[in-house]
Amino acid sequence: MNVIVTKSYEDSCQRAAELIEAAVLANPQAKLGLATGGTPLPIYRRLIEDCKAGKISFAKVRTVNLDEYCGLNGSNTQSYRWFMDHNLFNEIDIDKTNTYVPSGLGDLAANCREVDKKVRENGVPELQLLGIGNNGHIGFNEAADLLHTETHIEQLTESTIAANARFFDKPEAVPTQAITMGLSSILAAKSIVLVATGAAKAAAIRGLLCNDEVTTQNPSTFLKLHPNATVIIDAALATAAGYEN
Ligand code: PGA
Repeated sequence: MNVIVTKSYEDSCQRAAELIEAAVLANPQAKLGLATGGTPLPIYRRLIEDCKAGKISFAKVRTVNLDEYCGLNGSNTQSYRWFMDHNLFNEIDIDKTNTYVPSGLGDLAANCREVDKKVRENGVPELQLLGIGNNGHIGFNEAADLLHTETHIEQLTESTIAANARFFDKPEAVPTQAITMGLSSILAAKSIVLVATGAAKAAAIRGLLCNDEVTTQNPSTFLKLHPNATVIIDAALATAAGYEN
């Protein structure tokens, strides 16, 4: 695993944006696996800035997102489709028809199969961007006794619902289920870039970086099996996690 420790979260986001842009410069038709949540927002702002400045074009890029809440349609401001449109896609030169966010509505079993197909259709993603949950989840693969390889419906844990409540008016409004890529769909990407910040992530990052163990109780540890995974954290989180270069 490649580990990059930066001075600040801002620098981490800069590094992640550079890796994404390098993938697109190397292959203008690259497929990117994208993530939602608070962590990637400054990364997306950099991509927007660089696209508006003419440094990078996403005109031929294809994207596939990790997950979506069940029960919200894409026009709901809490949906991940809305998040992606408003925090990235509407602001860059991407063709929206080449962007894919799982659907958490209708025939969920069929939607799950569609996600796995989209991940592999015309080649797997060059790069999959990831955040990490306080419990080590990637996508919405929650810490548990068993994990799933394929896209499936996940019951969100109380800790995830509590962490996500900051985006909602009231905690009761946070959806309790999500459709999420499974571990095999995430690990299919040619490269993976995980960005984390904040002391709340320290235990999960310790499990990921400070030993060689793989455990379903910290799903991020499966990234240790990937040949080209990069973890970008700031010095404050490295210290909190007890990680030494
Ligand atoms: P966050 O979420 O970026 O909002 O902290 C990350 C995640 O849950 O994967």
